[in-house]
Amino acid sequence: MTSLMLTGIAELVTNDPAMGDGSDLGLIHDAALVIEGKRVAWVGPAVAAPQADSAHDVGGRAVVPGFVDSHSHLVFAGDRSEEFAARMAGRSYSAGGIGATVAATRAASDEQLAANLARHVAEMRRQGTTTVEIKSGYGLTVVDESRSLALARQVTNETTFLGAHIVAPEYAGDPDGYVDLVTGPMLDACAPHARWIDVFCEQGAFDVDQARTILQAGKAKGLGARLHANQLGHGDGVQLACEVSAIAVDHCTYLSDADVDALASSGTTATLLPGVEFSTRSPYPDARRLLDAGCYVALATDCNPGSSYTTSMPLCIALAVREMGMTPGEALLAATQGGAGALDRDEVGHLQVGATADIAVLDAPSYLHLAYRPGVPLVHAVFIEGRQ
Ligand code: NIG
Ligand code: FE
Repeated sequence: MTSLMLTGIAELVTNDPAMGDGSDLGLIHDAALVIEGKRVAWVGPAVAAPQADSAHDVGGRAVVPGFVDSHSHLVFAGDRSEEFAARMAGRSYSAGGIGATVAATRAASDEQLAANLARHVAEMRRQGTTTVEIKSGYGLTVVDESRSLALARQVTNETTFLGAHIVAPEYAGDPDGYVDLVTGPMLDACAPHARWIDVFCEQGAFDVDQARTILQAGKAKGLGARLHANQLGHGDGVQLACEVSAIAVDHCTYLSDADVDALASSGTTATLLPGVEFSTRSPYPDARRLLDAGCYVALATDCNPGSSYTTSMPLCIALAVREMGMTPGEALLAATQGGAGALDRDEVGHLQVGATADIAVLDAPSYLHLAYRPGVPLVHAVFIEGRQ
């Protein structure tokens, strides 16, 4: 196996507290990193670096683990820029807008959906994302949900069945009938293409009892549970996620003390999605409160055409720092190791020896610039499984 050494690293973020400065980020200054095949084979100070077959000088830049975006909805057609403009003129966000994207997605060909998906994944990569989770949820028929997941599977193994995004329009008068479809024939058709099952548990979508039924049906088929909850108001969704040992509960904008306690004593990650609050002009979640209580916290884009049409993890980091009480280091950890935890993955989200060599080289001397220089294209190069 040939080895490649990255040299000229001004600052290396390993996310290994046993390395470098001993912080959670495990920062090493004037570092080198050796890649062998798909893996990280060595990290440390450049002066101590071993021999490698070839070298690549990153020119005094910072190197961080590739971002792990654990929540996106990239299988869709059309956009909802008019709805965004109406919100910025004072209208509020509701789950109902999802129906417009469902109609556009159903009308699109497989080729159109695949092209749109590829374009958005490429956009993510250019911004340093090396692992992405992708949900269905804009099909809402057996055929449209399963084709959405089959398309998503072509670009990632982290696929999530979200037939329970809203009640399909054909079932408007019969939500229980739709839950039967989701937990029956739709689940049967989708489970082979999915790793996870998710429900939008919110006013205007599914209540806690429906969500519990759907998550349990998915678990019985071997899917892992994750949940959208507490986005638009208080509710019992976060408690349900902890009750069913969901790997993650996402949004968490409105939390009671009991919700925070439940998260802190569970293994469930709270995934915060600041692109949503930005794009719906809503109050941001309080990341500081969750971190101080000892909860697992992740950051993700939630990229979708309705509530958060951004593919940029650097934007989410900057918002989390400026608006949600996170330090730049906490935000970077949440966007890397936090996202990996939210996908139950231990080989990504860090750059310890043995990790997958998923790496972002920043056009900056320090990771601090991710929040310090918002809106600036800061990703110089990306390596996925050791290849640029
Ligand atoms: O995560 N919350 C539910 N689903 C998306 C929004 C989908 C849409 O508005 O199209 C979200 O915010
Ligand atoms: Fe979402």
